[in-house]
Amino acid sequence: MNTIFVAGAGTMGLDIALVFAKAGMDVIVRDISDAILDAAKQKLETKLEAAVTKNRLTADEADTLRSRLRFTVELTPAQDADLVLEAIVERADLKIGVFRELDALCRPECIFCSNTSSISVTQLAAASGRPDRFLGMHFFNPAAVMKLVELTRSLTTSDETFQAVYDLARRIGKEPVEVQDSPGFVVNRILVPMMNEAVCLLQEGAASAEDIDKAMRLGANHPMGPLHLADLVGLDVLLYICDVLFDETHDPKFRACYLLRKMVRAGKLGRKTGEGFFRYD
Ligand code: CAA
Ligand code: NAD
Repeated sequence: MNTIFVAGAGTMGLDIALVFAKAGMDVIVRDISDAILDAAKQKLETKLEAAVTKNRLTADEADTLRSRLRFTVELTPAQDADLVLEAIVERADLKIGVFRELDALCRPECIFCSNTSSISVTQLAAASGRPDRFLGMHFFNPAAVMKLVELTRSLTTSDETFQAVYDLARRIGKEPVEVQDSPGFVVNRILVPMMNEAVCLLQEGAASAEDIDKAMRLGANHPMGPLHLADLVGLDVLLYICDVLFDETHDPKFRACYLLRKMVRAGKLGRKTGEGFFRYD
């Protein structure tokens, strides 16, 4: 595993690319427009400069990381990849489209992973053209800091593929857990309803956004309140996960709060747009 192709340079894709580069791998980062890639490169510079300022990296180490990361709008560089990590928007149709195109380009032994938060890994694997060499590799936000990766087996993932990605997760300094394909896997099945419930409390006027978050920080020892966490995740991503949980189970406990849907319709997506339940500079 020396060359990794990361599809998507958004909140997760860029941080995940940096995690692989820090572990010594060459990383190709692909997104759909030059403007998006320019913004990602700018964010990368900000992260590297901050790390050098805080003495977490030397200037030479930062240069080495820069040299390991290559940004492109093309899919063809994926032909050199040992592993594809897909981190594009949380939509099954778009993910399947990207995997189908990549299957035609990549070497047969290349493993396909999805960072999906909720979409059935078996559904993606079946459509990918390589059902045995496919699994969920789910990082957590911020990917540079969070230790966990959920490794989700589809019904068709081979043991060899699972083991290769398990070893890779250890090599990049993460702690893997093995999960079977089920709606929301483990963490989001528990965490997403909690964030959604916080939005419901806000909608009902039970408390202010500040106080809902303060209550969970000081009363449950959470590192950040659920509404700040929702803003960090992205309200569009959160809504999509709620909808998948509901569609897959038809259980009303997973129904998205209407205020969450309105926030997404208004383009208030959290940190990435500068405003969600809170404002960000
Ligand atoms: N990139 C790199 N480093 C980061 C970072 C980022 N985006 N954000 C924070 N850090 C680092 C900081 O530099 C700092 O490092 P040092 O201690 O070495 O200085 C450290 O993390 C702590 O950061 P802060 O002091 O700024 O703030 P904090 O102590 O509140 O920690 C946090 C920030 C790690 C985000 C913490 O608040 C936290 O753990 N929050 C919960 C995160 C969480 O639950 N994530 C899961 C979301 S759900 C998901 O990801 C799945 C999904 O599918 C949606
Ligand atoms: P994001 O909206 O920040 O970024 C998504 C990126 O995908 C954008 O830059 C977009 O231009 C790009 N994209 C869209 N269509 C594409 C295509 N066809 N090919 C290549 N790139 C394309 O989203 P994100 O928060 O980084 O989420 C990405 C994935 O990671 C989703 O599946 C999400 O569920 C999952 N995830 C998100 C979080 C989180 O906290 N945000 C945590 C874990 C997993």
